[in-house]
This record gives sequence, structure tokens and C-alpha cells, in this order.
Amino acid sequence: ALVAALALVLSACTDGSPTTLRTIAPVSFDTPLAIPPEAESRVDASGTRVFELTAQEGSTELLPGTTTTTWGYNGSHLGPTLRAERGERVTAEVTNHLGEMTTVHWHGMHLPARMDGGPHQPISPGETWRPTWEVDQPAATLWYHPHPHGETERHVYLGLAGMFLIDDPEAAPALPSEYGVDDVPVIVQDKQFSQDGQFSRESVQEPGILGDTVLANGTFGAFHEVTTELVRLRVLNGSTARTYAFGFDDDREFQLVGSDGGLLAAPLPLTRIRLSPGERAEIVVALDPGEDTVLKSYPPELGDVASELAFGGEDTIEVLQLRAAEELQDSEPVPVELAEIEPLAEEEATVTREFTLASRLINGRSMDVDRVDEVVEVGSTEIWEVSTDDPLMHNFHVHDVQFQVLDIDGEAPPPELRGLKDTVYLEPGRRYRLIMRFEDYADPSAAYMYHCHLLRHEDEGLMGQFVVVEPGQTPQLAQAPPDQH
Ligand code: C2O
Ligand code: CU
Repeated sequence: ALVAALALVLSACTDGSPTTLRTIAPVSFDTPLAIPPEAESRVDASGTRVFELTAQEGSTELLPGTTTTTWGYNGSHLGPTLRAERGERVTAEVTNHLGEMTTVHWHGMHLPARMDGGPHQPISPGETWRPTWEVDQPAATLWYHPHPHGETERHVYLGLAGMFLIDDPEAAPALPSEYGVDDVPVIVQDKQFSQDGQFSRESVQEPGILGDTVLANGTFGAFHEVTTELVRLRVLNGSTARTYAFGFDDDREFQLVGSDGGLLAAPLPLTRIRLSPGERAEIVVALDPGEDTVLKSYPPELGDVASELAFGGEDTIEVLQLRAAEELQDSEPVPVELAEIEPLAEEEATVTREFTLASRLINGRSMDVDRVDEVVEVGSTEIWEVSTDDPLMHNFHVHDVQFQVLDIDGEAPPPELRGLKDTVYLEPGRRYRLIMRFEDYADPSAAYMYHCHLLRHEDEGLMGQFVVVEPGQTPQLAQAPPDQH
């Protein structure tokens, strides 16, 4: 049955050429993990923290002796780590030095729709876009990436992505926090290279590009020198299509301390954490002096076709070696309490909406930038029931809010899904009830997106739009940019 369904999936989306799942290139860990620089910023006269980002093309040596044309922000590949405190006002001055339109979306950020950087905020070549907002959410590992409709996969795949860390000095449990030392960003992305060393997007398989080369912050075969007893990894699945189940090669336990939207209530001991595209996990792992361990991704345990496809077959993928020094500095133990998460109660919800993902459609419709799919009243709490019966892999991402998983098929979610989330993996055939509150930023003229975060699916229409309004307001979208479909 598995093989038959696989064949069906592949025949549904190919031009008939034979497809094999790629095997992962072997890794020797001989390159230090690149750490994205922390972005410089200035504070202007009004007290606003101002970042400058320039999207540009360049070339990068990602594989030894190979020069690849890549895109990046303020550099040739990926982007700097933006960092701001809760309560701060920030402005991003985003300049487009590419030869084509792009956008920058602040994934996981609670902010007005016209600042969101989705398909309705195009930045033409040579132009600068200046969104500004107040950071008003818990400390978290967020990220930013382009979102031009139909082109998101290509822009992200070429290298446009970076982290956006939110700090909250008033709620800062003692976790490793020295950036790049014991608090380490890990952006995981798979690539496939053509003969001449360029990124190849050629893919006839579901669920999209499953590259044979997995990079961490753009480094292939990365190691990180650990100098403290505990190290915190902020892992982002920045891949376009591949899902990972991260763990260590010796199966050591680690503590999950944070999910997409912030810290968990308490640390959760685990040996595996599954991350689909767009999801983040903050984990803390302990090392003994002189030892090493490898962060890798294991094959899926579900055994269903969708996850086989999502993970790219039986591949075990080595991502990052951690090497402990002979002497390690003391780390404070992970606190038993990390954050207060106010649970949203089912009784508070006034609206329930259903979303069924099938092939490239949500509720039977393909993305249309001129159509408002859902109208939400500001201040309301809603339950979104999301499911798919596809033998394809999907996840579900909602802009503007962090949601809580109320239940899955009526059962309490597993502990790793009890924190704040903005993206959730959809196991086929299961019904996810997500609860969320739309606190503020009513604007009848601007839309937020919800979509599958497998970027090819999203580009091919698996996306919809919602507008947050004051009671009684009718949405009236500002005219959609002409150069998108
Ligand atoms: Cu990470 Cu709508 O995107
Ligand atoms: Cu999908």
C-alpha cells in the first residue's frame, strides 16, 4: 500500500521522469560552524531601534572549491541575527538590491498586517521598505524570510533567511545566553547542487526539494567548539520542504526549553524533536569535558507515506558536531520553571473555523491575493480546526499570532506541542484544534496569511488570507501588487 500510494503521489506531480529519493552526502566535521553576525542597529531620536537589511546577490563557497551564486541580507548568504527587546519599537529599513521584486516577512511576529511583509508588501529593485512596530510578545526565536507569492521557495532557497531573537529582560530564566558561544543559532537547510556547483531546484518529487547536502548556517560538515557544561541550540528548520527529527547520535537526552513562540512552561527531557519547515526548537544539551556528539536527523517513526516523503526516505542526516573542550566552564542548571504561559480556554473562543488542506487547495480554494478568505474581529479568541487527508505532507502556519494546540483528534497534544506555536506539522487524517487570540491591529485594508510552510505547496496556492477588523467593519484590501499571481 505504501509503495502504491507513493507511486500515486509521484505520478501526480511529475513529468514522468524516474524519481529516486536522494541519499545524503557523508559528513566529516572539519569546518567551524558559521555564526550569523548579530545585526548592528541604531536608536533614533524617537527611541526606535533601526536595523538595515539589504537583499543582494553574491557568491559563496559552501562546498570546498565550489563557488555558488547565492542571495543574502547584508552579505552573500543568509542574513544577520536581528535582536530586540520586548517593549521596544523597531524599524527595519529593507533595501532591495536584487534584480527582481522581493518581500521580507517577520515569521512569528505579532505586528500590523501592513508591516508583515507578505505578498502585499513588495519591494521593487532599488527600493527601500520601512516597516515599524512595537515588539510585544514573549522572548522567542523568530525568523525572517521573503514571501513574494509564487517565488518564496526560490528566494528562500537561494539564501534569504535570518533569525530574529526577542529578549525579555523581565522574564529571563537562567539559560545559556552568550550568543555564538553557548547560545547558538542553527539554521538547518538542505540543498542540491548542479554539476557546476549552483543550487538546483530541479525536483520532480513530493513534497518539493529534498537536497542531498544539509547545511547548518550555511556550513557543510560543521562542528562547534563547546566551552561550557551546557549549550543551548536555537534550531530553525529553514528548509523548503524537508522535515527532520533531530536527536544526538548517542541518543543522549536533551531539554526542550522553547518552541516557535517562546519558552515552554518547564523544560522537557527528550531524545527527538520533529521540526517541519518553519518550526523552531530551543534545546539545551549537556556535554562532558573532551567528548563529542553529533546533532542529526533520524528517519520518521510514523511509517506513513506522507512522513516518508517529508523526511526524504530512510536518510539519517548528520548536521552538526558538538566538541567539548577538555575543561568546561560551569553552567547554571536549567531552571525548573521557564515561563508562564496563559492557557487559552476553549470557553473563551467565540468562533470556530475549519481548514482542510487537499493537494494545493485550502477548503477547495487556491490562493488569490485579491480575495479575503476569513474575517476576524479584533480581540476575539478563535479555534481553527485544521486537517488533511492527503497522502502528502503538509504543515500549517498562521501569521500574526502564536497559537496553542488545544487537542489533536480530541486528545491532549504531546508535551512538545504545549508551548506557543505558529507552525504545526499535520499528521494525515488527524484533526488539529488550534486556539488563538487576535489581540489588536485591526485594519480592514491589509491581510495576513495562513498557509502550508512547504514552500512549493505555498507557492502553488496552498495559502489563504485573513483580515482583522473592528466589529462591523468590512474588509477592503488595498489593491494587490500587479506583478504577482
Ligand atoms: Cu514563514 Cu507565511 O511564512
Ligand atoms: Cu503542504
